[in-house]
Amino acid sequence: MDTLDALYADSLANLQETESMASLEVWYRDNLGRKGSVQLETRKVGQLPPAERPLFGQQINKIKQQLSAAYEERLAALKAAELRAQLAADAVDVTLPGRRQWRGRLHPSTLVLREIYRIWGDMGFQVYRSRDVETDEYNFELLNIPAHHPARDMWDTFYTTTPGVLLRTHTSPGQIHAMREYHPQAIRVILPGMCYRYEQITARAEIQFHQVEGLAVGRKISLADLKGTLAEFARRMFGQETGMRFRANYFPFTEPSAELDIECFICQGEGCAVCKQTGWLEILGSGMVHPTVLENGGYDPARYSGFAFGMGVERIAMLKYGIDDIRYFWANDLRFLEQF
Ligand code: DAH
Repeated sequence: MDTLDALYADSLANLQETESMASLEVWYRDNLGRKGSVQLETRKVGQLPPAERPLFGQQINKIKQQLSAAYEERLAALKAAELRAQLAADAVDVTLPGRRQWRGRLHPSTLVLREIYRIWGDMGFQVYRSRDVETDEYNFELLNIPAHHPARDMWDTFYTTTPGVLLRTHTSPGQIHAMREYHPQAIRVILPGMCYRYEQITARAEIQFHQVEGLAVGRKISLADLKGTLAEFARRMFGQETGMRFRANYFPFTEPSAELDIECFICQGEGCAVCKQTGWLEILGSGMVHPTVLENGGYDPARYSGFAFGMGVERIAMLKYGIDDIRYFWANDLRFLEQF
């Protein structure tokens, strides 16, 4: 019985010294396992005189139960300690600032183009695409700008090495493509696209930029339609209270021609740097389609009429977002692009 008491005390002391799951498993094997010290004691029962066996047996069972209970307790304690250590090791520092999710953004030209598409779409104008590489015939001749005509000075042109092939200087040649495709039906289209000009690049001039052209052709289209439609566009684009004026101008492909100015929305017409102290901002060119141009498109000018307009997208974006240098548009500087 003394041996058993000593064994119990010894085992228990060893158990308290286990520091890890691994050493605990070793302890279990050496003490409570099939060949462990307690089990070995059990086998001694047979060697005892019969009278002593029950007491010895009871004592062994008691030790087994107590050691098993102590083992479970130790196991739970070590597991908890292990979990605490793990949590401390890969702790989450809730005070760290989060990692930012970067989102792509739309280019300011795209933003303005989409706004323009939406407004004209609501007014029943469809988008019509035409080519960037044009012929002299479509870019000039068919628009009533013959070779050597002084009006060609309005467009500094990039010519290609192929005679008669150039980069469009404006979206107006799309008018001829649309008319030749649709005649004799009525037309209501906008023609967006990149235009190219042989310019010295400055804060105000680029060699490439977007325009959105518009064209309406039908049986009874008048100057009043032009004015009303463009005024409605300006109100939807720049605000219902926008003041505006039509100013007579000259374009070879329209007669009469007019430019549309809106009241400067920076200074409300008072005069500032953006409107160059005039109180007005020029936003587009327009006019009634010239009879020669209608004819070139396949429409009889005696029976059909139409209006057209063209606006510069980056110019409107510059006004809208207060951008003071057109060169930012194609510089691909993220510090600029991230602001939209
Ligand atoms: N094509 C002209 C330009 O690039 C803009 C323009 C003016 C277009 C009057 C038109 C128009 O359709 O009617 O300067």
